[in-house]
Amino acid sequence: MATLELRDLTKKFGDFTAVDHMNLQVAQGEMIALLGGSGCGKTTTLRMIAGFTEPSSGTIYVDGKDIGKTPPYKRNVGIFFQNYALFPHMTVFENVAFGLKLQKLKASKIRERVENILSLVKLTSLDKRYPRELSGGQQQRVALARALITQPAILLLDEPLSNLDAKLRVEMQVEIKRIQKELDITTIIVTHDHEEAVSLADRVIVMNMGEILQIGAPQEIFDYPSSPFVADFMGFSTFLHGTAVLTPDGISAVECSGHTIYVPSQSTDTLQIGASYILAIRSESMELVSSDGNNTVSGRVKNSTYKGHSTRLEIEGCFSETIYPSVNEYTEPGNGKKVLVHLPSERICVYKRER
Ligand SMILES: Nc1ncnc2c1ncn2[C@@H]1O[C@H](COP(=O)(O)OP(=O)(O)OP(=O)(O)O)[C@@H](O)[C@H]1O
Ligand SMILES: [Mg+2]
Repeated sequence: MATLELRDLTKKFGDFTAVDHMNLQVAQGEMIALLGGSGCGKTTTLRMIAGFTEPSSGTIYVDGKDIGKTPPYKRNVGIFFQNYALFPHMTVFENVAFGLKLQKLKASKIRERVENILSLVKLTSLDKRYPRELSGGQQQRVALARALITQPAILLLDEPLSNLDAKLRVEMQVEIKRIQKELDITTIIVTHDHEEAVSLADRVIVMNMGEILQIGAPQEIFDYPSSPFVADFMGFSTFLHGTAVLTPDGISAVECSGHTIYVPSQSTDTLQIGASYILAIRSESMELVSSDGNNTVSGRVKNSTYKGHSTRLEIEGCFSETIYPSVNEYTEPGNGKKVLVHLPSERICVYKRER
């Protein structure tokens, strides 16, 4: 059981900064999701915590103690690597037992621990199989068992679910969360998928180019991303450029392609008339309506994509940008059809445009 703190953690490869003054405090038993595009420094961060990559500067504290000089095998960290290669010549049992053998535990103790962990990841009946005799999802669970077997105080999972099909992925999300809470392990999980991040983690971190852009509770980061970049990463589809104006009735709003768009009241107060803004809104927050009103624009359907639980439309002609409302029912493509779209002001995120 442990707390983890990164203070100004930095990694440079030559002139290139892969991780840039990262600061983070993780509470005992907390699960943090690290979200960010390819190459933003996620794996490098985990490797520094595990002790496989030496930081260029900064400090890592576990339970308040600087572990900079502690070798990897003494860090009490379980790690699931992005390329989780299992030992091909070892059975499931032997793969999982490997870490305990290194610790020179008695055979009877090893057997007991491996059996427990295999039951936790639901692989008990497959213990004599070799990796080549397992499905991709089963192999990932062996790798997870291998990361957990030494009962680490800190668990680092680098995209543990990336190769799974949609159904197994959801099952494993539930499993990982259950195991993590049951064993009360302080955990950092790396993912590319914002839905996975918000459903698994106690807090989510969005990174870009080695820096943390936002840390927050899943709902906070999902509903109130701190920048257009984070909004894009959290699945916002529609971004509009505009200028703050004062309407004839004295309300601050944002004019986008000639339309007056009202924004949430807390944002209205901070609008600077004449300044440039970016508005972001999710597909599912927009709605097709039959009568005109505030924040309602008309456009034409350019395309529609059936998503199973909804249909995502591409609408042009209302703004200079395309907007992407989604509707719950199945809609025939209806390309060229004229529609009215309402953008509820309370669901719009407002960002001042940096020059
Ligand atoms: N040993 C190394 N030498 C030089 N550059 C490196 C080294 N390891 C990583 N990098 C660079 O550092 C940056 C961060 O790499 P990292 O593996 O941490 O990214 P990531 O966020 O895990 O990406 P992905 O989502 O693709 O796994 C990348 O630009 C990468 O090319
Ligand atoms: Mg990586």
